[in-house]
Amino acid sequence: MDGIAELRAKYLAEVGAAADPDALEAVRLTALGKKGEIALKLRELGRMDPEERKTAGPALNRLKDEIDAALRARKAALEDAALDERLKGEWLDVTLPPRPRPRGTIHPVSQVTEECAAIFADMGFRVAEGPQVETDWMNFDALNIAPEHPARQEHDTFFMHRDPGDDRPPHVLRTHTSPVQIRAMQTQGAPIRVIAPGRVYRMDMDQTHTPMFHQIEGLAIDRDITMANLKWCLEEFFSAYFGTKVRTRFRASHFPFTEPSAEVDIQCSWIGGQLKVGEGDGWMEVLGSGMVHPHVLRSAGVDPDQWQGFAFGMGIDRMAMLKYGIPDLRAFFESDLRWLRNYGFSALEMPSLHAG
Ligand code: PHE
Repeated sequence: MDGIAELRAKYLAEVGAAADPDALEAVRLTALGKKGEIALKLRELGRMDPEERKTAGPALNRLKDEIDAALRARKAALEDAALDERLKGEWLDVTLPPRPRPRGTIHPVSQVTEECAAIFADMGFRVAEGPQVETDWMNFDALNIAPEHPARQEHDTFFMHRDPGDDRPPHVLRTHTSPVQIRAMQTQGAPIRVIAPGRVYRMDMDQTHTPMFHQIEGLAIDRDITMANLKWCLEEFFSAYFGTKVRTRFRASHFPFTEPSAEVDIQCSWIGGQLKVGEGDGWMEVLGSGMVHPHVLRSAGVDPDQWQGFAFGMGIDRMAMLKYGIPDLRAFFESDLRWLRNYGFSALEMPSLHAG
């Protein structure tokens, strides 16, 4: 049959010249498609005489196989080339150091808690903990807060739900860290020196109050601890915390769990709307304190004829605002990333007694 050699040469050349998968597919259709040239030739076989058909038939089929094989080979070659090209573009040096990525920051409350713990640890106080869901006995009764005391009333305290018939003792969200005094004395006895930082809850929400905030409790019980020790301890603490000598002023006050009780102010100045701690002749209230009431010692299993000591409770959030110039308490708990990046601390700024 005429022309087989030409067809072969033509298509193999076209296959070889096809530069991409689309061009290759076009060649396949013109050569091997249903209406392609080879198909037409095969159809012509029917009009041939048998002798001619005997040689032309197999020749055409061989040609078809040959072109088919060439198409496949070319396709594979094009794919390899495309992959090589991509790999060149996507090459990457896995030995390069990673780009620094911004991490989360340490929340000011966490930072300040650590700072306080470090300062008190230096004075021999260990950290004690208690649950945030507390029995009302721990939160109130054990602390000499009688059932009719206003602090127990609904508007201050979050009471946990109780179904009728629930015989577990009533629970509240602790309204202060003072129940940890009881827990610590019950488990460690006296003498004892602990601080207890943690979350507390009160039904209160305005510019300066949030329903959850943080306190740090202090407790020191021994044979002969007095208010003088309390005053020294607090002045030492505030001076270390603010990095400057801070004087304190004690004002007579009342708490059911301490007798006598004092509210403590720290020395500060207000100049041009700017608050500075440790200078001037202004005073700012920062904590409640006193000598632990004998009833409290007794309910924690400590003999008040043998032991005595002081306790104090201070707002951590307030301490953070004062030291780091953070204006609004509510922003502490809004999880606004811009705020957290601005006021947050790097994980490397480890609190220490020597940090500025
Ligand atoms: N628990 C008191 C409060 O939350 C603070 C305090 C603690 C007062 C210990 C005296 C002694 O206001």
